[in-house]
Amino acid sequence: MVAMQFDVAQKPTASKKLFVHTFGCQMNEADTARMSELMARHGYARTPQPDDADLILLNTCAIREKSVQKVLSALGRYRQTKLERGALIGVGGCVGQQEKAQLLKRVPYLDFVFGPDALQKLPDIVRRAEEEGERVVETAWVDSEEYVFPRADPAEARGKVTAFVIAMKGCDNVCAFCVVPRTRGREVSRPVYDVLAEVADLVSVGVREVTLIGQNVNSYRGGCSFAELLRRVAAVNGIRRVRFTTSHPKDLSDDLIAAVGEMEEICPHFHLPVQSGSDRVLERMRREYTVDWYLARLKALRKARPGIAVTTDVIVGYPGETDDDFAKTLDLVAQARYENVYAFVYSARPHTLARLREKEWGVVPHSVKVERLERLNSLARSIAVEEMGRHLGGTSSVLVEGPSRTDPARRFGRTPENRVVNFDGDAAVGSVVDVRLLQATPNAFSGVQVAVKEELPCT
Ligand code: SAH
Ligand code: SF4
Ligand code: F3S
Repeated sequence: MVAMQFDVAQKPTASKKLFVHTFGCQMNEADTARMSELMARHGYARTPQPDDADLILLNTCAIREKSVQKVLSALGRYRQTKLERGALIGVGGCVGQQEKAQLLKRVPYLDFVFGPDALQKLPDIVRRAEEEGERVVETAWVDSEEYVFPRADPAEARGKVTAFVIAMKGCDNVCAFCVVPRTRGREVSRPVYDVLAEVADLVSVGVREVTLIGQNVNSYRGGCSFAELLRRVAAVNGIRRVRFTTSHPKDLSDDLIAAVGEMEEICPHFHLPVQSGSDRVLERMRREYTVDWYLARLKALRKARPGIAVTTDVIVGYPGETDDDFAKTLDLVAQARYENVYAFVYSARPHTLARLREKEWGVVPHSVKVERLERLNSLARSIAVEEMGRHLGGTSSVLVEGPSRTDPARRFGRTPENRVVNFDGDAAVGSVVDVRLLQATPNAFSGVQVAVKEELPCT
């Protein structure tokens, strides 16, 4: 299997404009980048606003309730552009995969629908819609042996310090609440040589940090284990930092823990979604681990890499979750001392086991869900503030990513633990600097540059 190569010299002069509205996770962000690169080869330049677009794409997310409504209301906003400019409108991503032709029926002015596996067919889909007036639906899965991961165009990454690199796609797990296995299909790992080639390409244009992504990234098996993939990516000449997301606790192997412990380039940050602190709920979620097992893994991780920052996802109000179950979640969060907890109210998704059994297990009233969410968030915030407070006054190594969003005169970057830092300083983008941390808000540190450790101006 040979990955598709991109010949920069063949890029035609852009004559049309493409606007993409991206919803959802990092995978969608990476897919949007690949779609844009693909369409650039067919004469479409990206535009930041829909009003002057000839092609409008919605790259959608189906993870929670109201996802279809969100897409419908965005489509309503783009309808005017269609009327005025004759723009084509297409829906891709997870809602496209979930709703298929149904969406074309509901939205008469929608031109085409395509799923994540049809991304590479996008230019042909657009041509069929444009030239033949066909209302295309492309949501078939590509066989895992035949699937070719689109390669990032390094020219588009020029000037960037960080990049997402897709390591695998799909999910073979059966978490009872989750729609992803139905919207992204079976797991397919990208061959290791292909991942390494993309990383080397990105480094050659100045990228210093890559985040390997996949719905269940640590079950990677594209010719080596995930731990080995991390070691090899971290060893690519010029790479300073490697991150990865999202890991499933049940696939957190001893070897992965060892890799995180032994290589400095692998960042000391681990996102390890726990979902609940109650074994009863975890079993109903089909997560395939217990709280004790999870905490033991966390302990091993922290032993291998002291100071590692751990973040998590939690669902509150899962069907049948009692006050006692929820209290156990609060206990776990207090014990694990996460730097960040991404907490979600449970929402029923089509064709999932949790939805099927919701009545039998017991629907948690909305007001209870919201109250639990607030209690969890307030505990998580207080822990985060305490944890961040421990670093005030100290210095941390920061990879400079660009100007600060709140004050463009300042710099923005992140520590190896993925803590956001806005600081006064003059180091070039791509440099690694020491920053003294002076203030903390729940989401970011503010500080001042004290030394440049590595001058790495972008090429
Ligand atoms: N593959 C990742 C999760 C991807 S979805 C993993 O297994 O950890 C990101 C997060 O959304 C999940 O961790 C979960 O906390 C949340 N989520 C997924 N489905 C949900 C649902 N039906 N209701 C509420 N939250 C959900
Ligand atoms: Fe969904 Fe579970 Fe797969 Fe994550 S591991 S994407 S929560 S099914
Ligand atoms: Fe959403 Fe699909 Fe990502 S459902 S979270 S866009 S995998």
